[in-house]
This record gives sequence, structure tokens and C-alpha cells, in this order.
Amino acid sequence: MTLKLAFIGTGGIASWHLRGVAEVNQQGWAGAERLYELVALADPRAEAHEALAAEAETTLGQRPSVYGDYRQMLEREALDVVSLLVPHNLHWQIARDCLDAGLHLQVQKPIALTIAEGRRIIEYAQEKGRAMVVSEPSVLGRRTRAVLAALHDGGLVGVPTMLLDYAVTVLYGGFFAGTPWRHLKGIAGAGWFLDHGVHRAQWFLEALGSVVEAYALTKTFEPVRRDEKHGTFTVDTEDSALAVLRFETGVLGHWLVASAGHGAPFGAVLVYGTEGVVNFTAGTTQKDGGDQRQLDEVVKPYEDDRIPADPIAHSFGELHALITAGAPPLSSGKLALEALAIVYACLEAATTGRPVAVADVLSGAAHTYEDTIEAARQQWGNVPAARVS
Ligand SMILES: NC(=O)c1ccc[n+]([C@@H]2O[C@H](COP(=O)([O-])OP(=O)(O)OC[C@H]3O[C@@H](n4cnc5c(N)ncnc54)[C@H](O)[C@@H]3O)[C@@H](O)[C@H]2O)c1
Repeated sequence: MTLKLAFIGTGGIASWHLRGVAEVNQQGWAGAERLYELVALADPRAEAHEALAAEAETTLGQRPSVYGDYRQMLEREALDVVSLLVPHNLHWQIARDCLDAGLHLQVQKPIALTIAEGRRIIEYAQEKGRAMVVSEPSVLGRRTRAVLAALHDGGLVGVPTMLLDYAVTVLYGGFFAGTPWRHLKGIAGAGWFLDHGVHRAQWFLEALGSVVEAYALTKTFEPVRRDEKHGTFTVDTEDSALAVLRFETGVLGHWLVASAGHGAPFGAVLVYGTEGVVNFTAGTTQKDGGDQRQLDEVVKPYEDDRIPADPIAHSFGELHALITAGAPPLSSGKLALEALAIVYACLEAATTGRPVAVADVLSGAAHTYEDTIEAARQQWGNVPAARVS
């Protein structure tokens, strides 16, 4: 069955989604072929929706209709499913309008700006009987699934004991992905720690299980940021966070995310276990008494050719299987909400100066940090998209 698809938001990530649709249409998924027809795009920035429509014509062989207002698109187009590709603060509001229009949903990470809004999306989709997946590439795609299978099998490190995860990006006082909104609390919730952090947190959940407790320190080293396109912003999000995590399994994690690096970026992800170590950044793994081996070679036997190589194509495959056959997705709303709660538990801990249980953030019992988002939201809610995207 070919589903009629629309994109709401045609900014930076939308091209990747276009290619994901093309790949899953070509490869097929769970017995289905040509899973989607991209019929419409909506974005208030005309230059952005026109550029993506032209790209779609080349990539998919059909030019979608374009709209400046997504509500008009929902009224006029006969759609089955919508992919939301808008900044975090709009996820719940636009998801609700799409669900009210009877459509199925693919939501971007993070599932929403706050835990409460993420929960509302999940519950409202259930109430309306519509499918909802979160497009989270960190846990999807052929190679990632193979790595996770090998890790769970004990084939890489034995039983995991320690996680080291470090990411320092260099922005020269500018904006991550060229988007000021990623540094504004009322639109992004937190800084790069959230934007990048939910990817990592969802991977932690899949690789190592639930995080019970978190502690963190955060800081804003560079509150004034600018680029030529958008000008200067005094930002209100932290640009550096250093956290420690305690997993339910007993694994201990050390986690650094910073968007205030200078000179050279840095990244390292390692998992140690009872028998060895895997260095995801170097692409190597080594067991006690053995030689260092290439990760690609070790995980090859775990690869499933039916899974698209591209994680976004995989996400569209999952969404189609959920809509047409009720097959539960790997990247579910529930998992995405728990990932967001890990990030907010760290930020809650940094704000209150004490370790925080992830369960307390998930339940809404701990919300000191999230309260500051609600206040910031008033400030940035009505800023024109072109000013911040
Ligand atoms: N899956 C991933 O790996 C991944 C990667 C990057 C971004 N994302 C997510 O995708 C979302 C968008 O990120 P981006 O990098 O494309 O940002 P972006 O700023 O480049 O694009 C956002 C687009 O949304 C548009 N927009 C704003 N208000 C709108 C409205 N009311 N209706 C329709 N469109 C509107 C903007 O004009 C802009 O073109 C974010 O939630 C982000 O976290 C996911």
C-alpha cells in the first residue's frame, strides 16, 4: 500500500528524509514496495519549501505541492501520514493538529520540548488510534542494529560495565547547524546537550538499558553568539554539560557534551565490559588476550540485509509497518520520552545541585529545570522562522 505523505518543515533535516523516502521506496520493507508518495510540503519560508520541492522532483520523480501554512495543507490535501520536521517547541502543537486531521505521524527527536508534551503526543495518538514513531537515527539502520545485536550477544565486550561518551563541537561563536533556535531555551529546551544528547540517550537505552540516576554540572561559556545570516543572539542555554550516569544494570557512565570548543573538535564513545572494550569512534574492538579487530568485521555476521542501510529509510519502513500491519517500532515514542527524561534528569541535577532519579523526571515530580523552559517559551514563541532557522 502506497501512503500519501507530507512534510511539515523543510529545513536542514528535510533533505535527509527525502533521501530516506527514496531509499525505502526503492528497497521495499516487510513485503511492501513504493511505500510512500510525497504529495505536499509546508514551511513558512518559501525559499526552503521551493528548494525541497525541486529536490523532491529530482529524487522522487514528482514535484509535491507547497504551502506556507501547514493548516491549509491539512485542509486541502488528502493525506495518510505526516513527517514533522520543525523545531522542538512546535512538535506537540503541530502533532495535535495532524492527529485531529486523522493523520499518522513521524515525529523528529526530541519527541517534544518537554516531558509533559511528549507524553501528550503519545497519549493523543493512542486516543485517536493513529500510528506514531520517532525518527531516531542513533538506534536505526542496518549497521547500528548489527552493532547493538553484537553488544547484546556479549560478542564485543562481555557484560558492559562502563560507558565513556564525549562530544565537543567547535562553532567559533556561531550556531549549531546554522540554527540560532538550537541555542534558545524557549524553542530548543536546552542547548546542544539536549539536541545531540537525546540521540545519545536513546542509544544508551538500547545499548545498555535504563538509566536510574544522573548527576551533572553545566555551564554557558559563550552566551553571545552570531553568524552573518542571522546576526547576534544572547542565548539562554548551557553550552557545556558534564554528567555521570548510573544504569539499572550497574553500568556507570561518564558523559560530556559541549558546543563551546575551540581549536579542534573531539569525540569518543567507548564501552568497557567484563571481557573487552569497543571503541565506537575508532571503529575497533579488543578482548582480553586478543588482537585489536575492526568493528565492521566483527559485526558483519549480525547484519540483516532486509534493514535499509540508511537509518531514516529504516524509520520510514518502521512507520509503514506500524500503520499497515501494527508492527511495533524500534524507535517508539516511549523510548524517545525516556531518552528525553535522561537529558532532563541531568539538567535537573545541574540546576538543583543533587543527583536526580530519571523516574522522577518522567513522572513530572522533578521539574525545576523544565519550569525555566515554560518561562523562556513566552519570549521566543512568536519569532519568525527565518530569524532562527
Ligand atoms: N533525525 C535526526 O537526526 C535529526 C537531525 C537534525 C534535526 N532533527 C530534528 O528535526 C527538527 C528540525 O531540525 P532542522 O535541523 O531541520 O531545523 P531547521 O531550522 O533547519 O528547519 C526547521 C524548519 O521548520 C520550519 N518551520 C518553522 N515553523 C514552522 C511552521 N509553523 N510550520 C512549518 N514549518 C515551520 C522552518 O522555517 C525551517 O525551515 C528538529 O526537531 C530537530 O531536532 C532531527
